[in-house]
Amino acid sequence: MRIAMIGGGYVGLVSGACFAEFGTEVVIVETDRDKLDALRAGSIPIYEPGLDKIVSANTEAGRLTFTEDLASAIETVDAVFIAVGTPTRRGDGHADLTYVYEAARQIARHARTGLLVVTKSTVPVGTGREVARILRSERPDLAFSVASNPEFLREGNAIGDFMRPDRVIIGIDGTARDGGAHATALMRQLYRPLYLIETPIVMTDLETAELTKYAANAFLAMKVTFINEMADLCERLGGNIHDVARGMGLDQRIGRKFLHAGPGYGGSCFPKDTRALTAIARDAGAPSRLVETTVAVNEARKAAMAERVIALCGGSVHGKTIAVLGLTFKPDTDDMREASSLPLIHRLVEEGATIRAYDPEGMNAARPLLPGAVEYALSAQDAALGADALIVLTEWNVFRALAPARLLSAMRGRVIADFRNIWEPAAMREAGFSYHSIGRP
Ligand code: UDX
Repeated sequence: MRIAMIGGGYVGLVSGACFAEFGTEVVIVETDRDKLDALRAGSIPIYEPGLDKIVSANTEAGRLTFTEDLASAIETVDAVFIAVGTPTRRGDGHADLTYVYEAARQIARHARTGLLVVTKSTVPVGTGREVARILRSERPDLAFSVASNPEFLREGNAIGDFMRPDRVIIGIDGTARDGGAHATALMRQLYRPLYLIETPIVMTDLETAELTKYAANAFLAMKVTFINEMADLCERLGGNIHDVARGMGLDQRIGRKFLHAGPGYGGSCFPKDTRALTAIARDAGAPSRLVETTVAVNEARKAAMAERVIALCGGSVHGKTIAVLGLTFKPDTDDMREASSLPLIHRLVEEGATIRAYDPEGMNAARPLLPGAVEYALSAQDAALGADALIVLTEWNVFRALAPARLLSAMRGRVIADFRNIWEPAAMREAGFSYHSIGRP
């Protein structure tokens, strides 16, 4: 079996490399010349643990190749995956589908009969149907199969999530000439290694698969936002959010994951997908007030983090030096998209603070997004040098390992705002810090 993956971005590259690891021949089509050259030279443009290894192993084995030539890639494959970007469209919050539909038109131009076209990008309900319509109207002479196969990869965990997922969702277009039989057979063959480890495979129609992806992400975003509100309540009323989360999460109907309170969710998926779902629901005449509120509460929370720091610094950060540990939206990634560090640092700089930032992987991506005056440190310990206050924004393991006494001796002040609760309050106070965390006494 041979497949093409349109788009060598995060989803395309991880999925392509993992399908190759499953034994399928994969050609990744990337039109950005610099990215393509980098990939061909064996350099991975994103930071994702374990990805470089499986890319190089499968490239060497000849199962994974890269090209910019969509036409010749399509001619030799059984299935094409569309894994192009779907950014938020300006103005209305909908996902921008320009790249998806353009990919469908190009695929149609070079397709042969029997080709299976699969959307992997997160797309609004109805997109798979529209892809099918485009294919069939461009090439009425051909019989296409269409499927939707949303991904549930977490950055930093993507390889494990792909190789050992909780489930796989496959939406099949039943209106194909064969009722979807060919698509079903090909998708089963692609995911055969997962059948062997008894991964649940949920076979549905296109619309259900598309909606499932949004519903899952929105629910998780809501779960995080809920625990963040409970953390605020703990701060007002007393109570420890860790124990609340544990006590709640042990109820199997609730589950323990995604109950870690923090500075608000970010990343390439939750913010974009929750906004898209609210727009879809509004347009469908069934607005989701829960998801709309989640979006608004999370935005407000990110903005409120700067106010917390200002208050902890005695009402003003003017002329103060503030160390920021962690810039990316979460650990084990270099991704800065919608990171809570962005509004926080912009605000503190506006208020006259000097920022000394450190992130193990994210500083290159952060530079163009942050004010020019931000100083970048060589290490976490270096960032603390001369700081009046120190903020932890991302729970990288290297931060957990810092020695409090050394940190304190490097700092000028002693305020710590630990927005990821990586340290124990009692120990930090004992070490001499004025220590604040999220939702803990
Ligand atoms: C997410 C989904 O988990 C994944 O299934 C989907 O395919 C893409 O979006 P990702 O964006 O990589 O993955 O990160 P995730 O680990 O889900 O975290 C998202 C955000 O929520 C981060 O900012 C993270 O810090 C925050 N978060 C997550 C919390 O604040 N608390 C939690 O308990 C969990």
